[in-house]
Amino acid sequence: MLSSTLVAVAGAALASAHTIITYPGWRGNNLITNETFPYGMQWMYPCGGMHTTTNRTFWPTTGGGIAFQPGWFSGHATAFVYVNLGFGNEGPELDPDLRGPPNMSYPMITPFQILGPTKGPYPGTVCLPQLPMPQGVTAKAGENATIQLVELALHGAALYSCVDITFAEPGDPRIPLMNETNCFNSTDIGAADVYTLTMRESGEGRDKPNAAARGLHQLAYWAYVPLALGGVWALL
Ligand SMILES: *[C@@H]1O[C@H](CO)[C@@H](O)[C@H](O)[C@H]1NC(C)=O
Ligand SMILES: *[C@@H]1O[C@H](CO)[C@@H](O)[C@H](O)[C@H]1NC(C)=O
Ligand SMILES: *[C@@H]1O[C@H](CO)[C@@H](O)[C@H](O)[C@H]1NC(C)=O
Ligand SMILES: *[C@@H]1O[C@H](CO)[C@@H](O)[C@H](O)[C@H]1NC(C)=O
Ligand SMILES: *[C@@H]1O[C@H](CO)[C@@H](O)[C@H](O)[C@H]1NC(C)=O
Ligand SMILES: *[C@@H]1O[C@H](CO)[C@@H](O)[C@H](O)[C@H]1NC(C)=O
Repeated sequence: MLSSTLVAVAGAALASAHTIITYPGWRGNNLITNETFPYGMQWMYPCGGMHTTTNRTFWPTTGGGIAFQPGWFSGHATAFVYVNLGFGNEGPELDPDLRGPPNMSYPMITPFQILGPTKGPYPGTVCLPQLPMPQGVTAKAGENATIQLVELALHGAALYSCVDITFAEPGDPRIPLMNETNCFNSTDIGAADVYTLTMRESGEGRDKPNAAARGLHQLAYWAYVPLALGGVWALL
């Protein structure tokens, strides 16, 4: 008994933060590690080992909210978060009843970073109350889609969770109500914007340091060529 408890705790310590979608719904519990998913379900693209569900939740055609708990299991205090949409049921699943979208290639947010309080599991909710529809996409009431939440861990691997939706006109009473009970940001979870700094434009060739450094860079390059050639001659 004691040893199995210890094993369970050690296993949890190896896993990194997992997510639960608390609004508008969830495909179901995929915080499971077993023989079928020896690394844990949530690492499996596209939806953390869960097949498409038929108990869909309704979501506005104009875009809506999503709330999630990012701190299940220990591992990392910070992570990048992505929210994407997938359409249709042309996915590669063999069983036609389980087919979902062929891809999740329609981003709804600019990815951002969550700043958790500790490396241990932490409670707390993050809510994005109004996600826009992906650029260039319009949805009609009655159409199906899947919202995919991706949490990118510090080491670059990703955890996936999904919720299957049916679009409804805004204000449709079947859309679950969003309020301060299910949509809030816990104070212990911070957020940060993610920026990129261009070091080298595409097609530019070399790094773009300041002029002095560039001079050195070129000097070093030209010094290197005869050396390299010398090395080749030496080998011949
Ligand atoms: C669909 O059913 C599963 C299994 O009962 C449940 O875990 C999940 O929360 C349900 N999803 C929605 C959106 O109601
Ligand atoms: C592992 O868990 C998943 C999800 O509950 C289930 O579909 C699968 O059959 C389980 N595998 C084993 C070997 O129990
Ligand atoms: C949407 O999904 C539900 C069940 O998941 C299905 O009954 C319905 O036919 C689908 N609607 C469309 C337009 O594909
Ligand atoms: C992604 O899926 C959509 C269907 O929802 C399809 O029209 C599109 O071609 C797919 N994109 C890629 C890159 O496969
Ligand atoms: C918030 O909405 C949920 C349904 O999504 C409902 O169960 C709950 O009672 C509401 N809370 C308040 C304070 O209105
Ligand atoms: C929660 O924080 C995110 C990230 O800063 C922000 O976009 C969102 O609007 C906040 N949600 C609420 C309910 O204030």
